Amino acid sequence: MRIAVIGPGAVGGTLAAWLSQAHEVTLCARTAFDRLQVETPEGPLVATPTVLTDPAAAAPVDWVLVTTKTYDAAGSAAWLAGLVGPQTRVAVLQNGVEHVERFTPWLPAERITPAVVDIPAERTAPGVIRQRRMGWIKVPDGQAGQAFVDLFAHAPIDVATTEDFATVAWSKLALNCAGAVNALTLKPAGVAHRDDIAAIMRDLVAECVAVGRAQGADLPDDLPRQVIAGYRAGPADGVNSLHADRQAGRPMEIDARNGVIVRKGAVHGVATPVNAMVVALLEAAGA
Ligand SMILES: NC(=O)c1ccc[n+]([C@@H]2O[C@H](COP(=O)([O-])OP(=O)(O)OC[C@H]3O[C@@H](n4cnc5c(N)ncnc54)[C@H](OP(=O)(O)O)[C@@H]3O)[C@@H](O)[C@H]2O)c1
Repeated sequence: MRIAVIGPGAVGGTLAAWLSQAHEVTLCARTAFDRLQVETPEGPLVATPTVLTDPAAAAPVDWVLVTTKTYDAAGSAAWLAGLVGPQTRVAVLQNGVEHVERFTPWLPAERITPAVVDIPAERTAPGVIRQRRMGWIKVPDGQAGQAFVDLFAHAPIDVATTEDFATVAWSKLALNCAGAVNALTLKPAGVAHRDDIAAIMRDLVAECVAVGRAQGADLPDDLPRQVIAGYRAGPADGVNSLHADRQAGRPMEIDARNGVIVRKGAVHGVATPVNAMVVALLEAAGA
C-alpha cells in the first residue's frame, strides 16, 4: 500500500516507522528530516521513507493518515489536494471526538475514517521519537475501518474496529478533559493527589459524561472516579500534551479537549460551567 502520513511527529512518526516495514510510506512534514528513529518497546526501529515538505510535490496514495495536532488542521489540509485521488481513504488520528467534522471543509465525510489513538509517544527532535507503550488504535466497524486495521497486520500495535466508536472516543475525552488542570497549574499529573484539584477534575469529567451520553456514548456513572484514580495511580511526573504545549508556548488543543464539551453541551442543553471556565482561562493564558 502507498501511505502518506501528514504530520510525522510523535504519533505519526511512530506509526510511519512501523508501517514502513511493510508499505511504501511518504512523510508530509513541516520540518524536514532524513530518517525516522523510533525507540519502541521492542527496541529501536529505523526507517527512511520519502520526506516531502512541499504540498505541491504530493501525489495520490491509497491511504492518508493525518496525525497533526487538532489546531493544525487547516495546514494539514493543504496536503490533501495532491494526496487524495478517487480511491484514496483518509484516516484522522487526533484527540477529541470531532475527527470527521474537523475535515469536512475539505473532504466528504464518507471518505474519512476517524481513529482514537492511545499510543504514548514523544518526539525529542524531528524524526527522533520514543514510543513508551505499544498501545492501541480504534476505528469504527465497516469496510474502511477493516482496511485500516489491515494496514497494521504486520505490526505489534493493537489496531481494531469497534461497534461503538462514540463510546471509545468520549471515554478518551473524559480522560483528556481532566488534564486541563495540569495546563492551568503547570504542574504534572501528581497534582491530582490534591483533593481540591481532584474535585475540579471530577466536575470536568462529570460534565463530559453528561454531554457524551447526550451524544449517544455509553459512559459509566463512576467514570469521574475512575479517571481521578487513574491520574493518581500513574507517574506523578507525567506531563500531558496540553500542559507541554502551554509550557512550550505553542497553541493548545483546548477546543478539541474541553471546548467541544461546552459546544456540544450547548446543543443538548447540558450545563458545562467548569469546562467553560477552564477554556476561558487557558485561552486567556495562551493569548
Ligand atoms: N503524543 C502522544 O502520546 C499522543 C497520544 C495519543 C493521541 N495523541 C494525539 O495525536 C495527535 C498528534 O499528536 P502528536 O503528539 O503526535 O503531535 P506532534 O508530536 O506535535 O506532531 C505533530 C506533527 O505535525 C506536524 N505538522 C504541523 N503542521 C503541519 C503541516 N501543515 N504539514 C505537515 N506537518 C505538520 C508538526 O511539524 P513540526 O515538526 O514542524 O512541529 C509535527 O511533526 C494530537 O491530536 C494528539 O492529541 C498524541
